[in-house]
Amino acid sequence: METQRLRIAIQKSGRMAEGSNELLQAAGLRLPSRSKTTLFQRARNLPIDLLLVRDDDIPNFVATGVADIGIVGENVYEEWQLDDPVAPITLVRRLGFSFCRLSLATPKDGPLRSAKDLEGKSLATSYPLILRRFFKEQGIQADIVEMSGSVEVAPKLGIADGIFDIVSSGATLEANGLGPIADVLKSEALLVQTQKPLNAEKASILERLMVRIESVQASRQIKYIMLNAPGSKLATITDILPGADAPTVLPLQGKGDMVAIHAVVQDADLWDTLEKLKEQGASSILVTPIEKMMA
Ligand code: PRP
Ligand code: ZN
Repeated sequence: METQRLRIAIQKSGRMAEGSNELLQAAGLRLPSRSKTTLFQRARNLPIDLLLVRDDDIPNFVATGVADIGIVGENVYEEWQLDDPVAPITLVRRLGFSFCRLSLATPKDGPLRSAKDLEGKSLATSYPLILRRFFKEQGIQADIVEMSGSVEVAPKLGIADGIFDIVSSGATLEANGLGPIADVLKSEALLVQTQKPLNAEKASILERLMVRIESVQASRQIKYIMLNAPGSKLATITDILPGADAPTVLPLQGKGDMVAIHAVVQDADLWDTLEKLKEQGASSILVTPIEKMMA
């Protein structure tokens, strides 16, 4: 009998693993504890199972329908979509974590300083199709040496003149005497889905999960702010608060004109906002995260 539990493929360990796990837990999945050898986790409270795999294998699991959805880096997704004969997968949603770039990098003390300098040179990468597309767009003729890992050692070993790989903190490049010379692709975690039809049960679980993920993402972008301020400054202060059109205003007992203002605000650059609020006479300012939000 076909399974009625939604299967999600996520990275077992690595750059994407923690963020994927956190998102699913924030969406309410209660998971049994895992060890190094755990490959499969059955959620205790929802009809969802997790497959814990290598990130590079996730598109294949999703394309073939072994997993219904997956969380995968845009780098891996893009390379998969460019690989013509294989089954495509559907991008459902950008997830806003595991940000990184796919960049060209060369030895820091060498003469290759821009993409154009790579004409006639060789580059080692695990992303040959993305790199080939870039070279074609730029009209650059260069050799691509495909490697499945440890790409950053290639220049030192004389295998290639430079590399094309993921840069996140930049520590890996730094440790190998390399520096980025051009960014080719920005990447973040993506939710992807199989193009095989889901049965009614799975489709309905997926719908519930998506509402929860949207709610988690929305609540991550906002904060709850509380402050005291002179009532006469209410309009000015409401204007300063980003995205707060209808704040709650409460009188403060025995404090004359002072009122308490509570509002949900956008999280972008709250430090600037706090300074402006102080200038307008606000005091006792508290900013707290919002755990869940549903409109
Ligand atoms: C990438 C890449 C580098 C490292 C860069 O690996 O291959 O080794 O991360 O990160 P840094 O700039 O913070 O040092 P990834 O996480 O994709 O693992 P994988 O290639 O083994 O799947
Ligand atoms: Zn990988």
